[in-house]
Amino acid sequence: MWNKNWDNIFTETDWGKYPCEELIRFVARNFFGSPKREEVKILEIGCGTGGNLWFLTREGFDVTGIDGSSVGVEKAEKRLTKNGLSASLHVGDVMELPWDADLFDCVIDNECIYSNTFADSLKIINEVKRVLKPGGLFYSKTFMTGTSGDGMGDKLEGEKNTYTKLHGGALRTNYGVVRFTEEAEIDSLYGVFNIESIDFVNRSDKNRANEIKEWIIICRKTAIMDGA
Ligand SMILES: C[S@@+](CC[C@H](N)C(=O)[O-])C[C@H]1O[C@@H](n2cnc3c(N)ncnc32)[C@H](O)[C@@H]1O
Repeated sequence: MWNKNWDNIFTETDWGKYPCEELIRFVARNFFGSPKREEVKILEIGCGTGGNLWFLTREGFDVTGIDGSSVGVEKAEKRLTKNGLSASLHVGDVMELPWDADLFDCVIDNECIYSNTFADSLKIINEVKRVLKPGGLFYSKTFMTGTSGDGMGDKLEGEKNTYTKLHGGALRTNYGVVRFTEEAEIDSLYGVFNIESIDFVNRSDKNRANEIKEWIIICRKTAIMDGA
């Protein structure tokens, strides 16, 4: 469920203007060779202020973004317009995606789903599967257990590695819900898809005071899946 703190974060900070290297690599490998990029429909869930949308629209794809934060979406819209770019932008909770089934060639989750409980994350992932075309790809980058901050907050009851009010580590206190994914949970979260690859990036921050570990999970909706 979307947390309104994101509006404050996006009001106070100049967040997320550029995409991360891993996302660029994923898009380049899978879609740069498309003969008609303008026909490749890419949705970013939790698009924030639109750094990834900026990259995707510049590269000529048909881009859609959704986020719970009207502040984030407004900033994204302004940035795209200023650069002569456009995408279809929506404010809403990604637990219920406002699109018909089988629409997108690709869905991107760049650290959106982690800020939802396990139960809500499952709903979001099922929604992603619904709106993806059979054969479509899902890219999910999500914080891994062991990231600094894991264990340093109010633990949510009934959840394994999910906290609110982190009081230390790499992520902010006002992030709201923060869920760290352990390897054993990947199948139960993403198992509605064919999981094509599981990689990770590890880095340190603040002169090695913090460690940031993120899964990069790439899934495909196969044509023969139940309900596909
Ligand atoms: C860490 S930021 C990432 C923003 C963007 N993907 C990027 O890479 O810069 C997480 C974003 O996910 C959005 N988000 C998280 N859960 C959501 C939900 N259930 N519905 C809508 N947006 C959500 C937040 O509002 C926030 O913009």
